[in-house]
Amino acid sequence: MLSDLAYLQLQLEASLQQHLPTSSQIAQPMLDAMSYAVMGGGKRLRPMLVCASCEAFGGDYKAALPASCAFEFIHAYSLIHDDLPAMDDDELRHGRPSTHVAFGEANAILAGDSLHSLAFQSISEAANISPTSKLAIISLLSKAAGWPGMSGGQCLDIEAEGKVLSLEELEILHAAKTGALIRSSLEVGALCAEADSNSAAFKAIGEFGAKIGLAFQVVDDILDVTQTSEILGKPAGSDEALSKNTFPRLMGLKESKKKAEDLLQEALALLEQHKLKTPLLYTLANRAINRTF
Ligand code: IPE
Ligand code: IPE
Ligand code: MG
Ligand code: MG
Ligand code: MG
Repeated sequence: MLSDLAYLQLQLEASLQQHLPTSSQIAQPMLDAMSYAVMGGGKRLRPMLVCASCEAFGGDYKAALPASCAFEFIHAYSLIHDDLPAMDDDELRHGRPSTHVAFGEANAILAGDSLHSLAFQSISEAANISPTSKLAIISLLSKAAGWPGMSGGQCLDIEAEGKVLSLEELEILHAAKTGALIRSSLEVGALCAEADSNSAAFKAIGEFGAKIGLAFQVVDDILDVTQTSEILGKPAGSDEALSKNTFPRLMGLKESKKKAEDLLQEALALLEQHKLKTPLLYTLANRAINRTF
């Protein structure tokens, strides 16, 4: 059983490195940009959630490592594209130049494209997961990353710049751009343990993920206002500069913090009810909300 997050992180770093291509006769600059974006830091929350959920459903986290990497590849690609001049136009990520600043826009865009497909390659080639579960995982991840999920949410985020969304609309935005990947990381972890996707526990882990996912973006919005760029490793105040729709803008800092804390408590209660409250899931849920960067 996993109990040590530092150990899990080491395993994840090694697995990410193993899944990344290192040399290509035709596309070396793009490969270098891919490695730069993936191996340059990050909290690794989504892959950790995949492994933790797999264990909560009685599986061996090692079987979940390829799917965990897939989530980090999609996440890293989403950040490369999010920072591009055409999107948030941010030049700092993980305390160093964003991928497009370090490698040029074309190679950054292409690195994102290739990380997207590498994610699905990693799942399709995973050992120790049944073909049926692999198909279900691919279906879940494609929806979470694509138009009904992350990239759809990013579209809404950009379209809504300078406008004022209602609270309901903002929740839909955040649930798509950030919540969908976090929610599906938990569902996919359960599938890596060959869980029954029709079970009450599977439904509960999805709802837990949706709450943590929404709260995670609420906290990201809060930190954009309250932290420095040095601590965040990305430009503070970016949301304000782009007139983004955020929770602090809509309901103020105090109410936003309460919203995140309420979602965390609701999420933890779901784990408790369904006997899924493992130390690792509990710690990760707390870490996702009570953080400084
Ligand atoms: C940042 O995500 C983008 C959002 C979806 C809020 P993370 O805060 O998980 O990014 P890293 O990988 O840990 O830097
Ligand atoms: C981005 O949200 C969410 C993604 C899907 C990448 P943000 O634009 O707020 O993320 P940061 O603050 O740049 O990390
Ligand atoms: Mg953005
Ligand atoms: Mg951004
Ligand atoms: Mg942000």
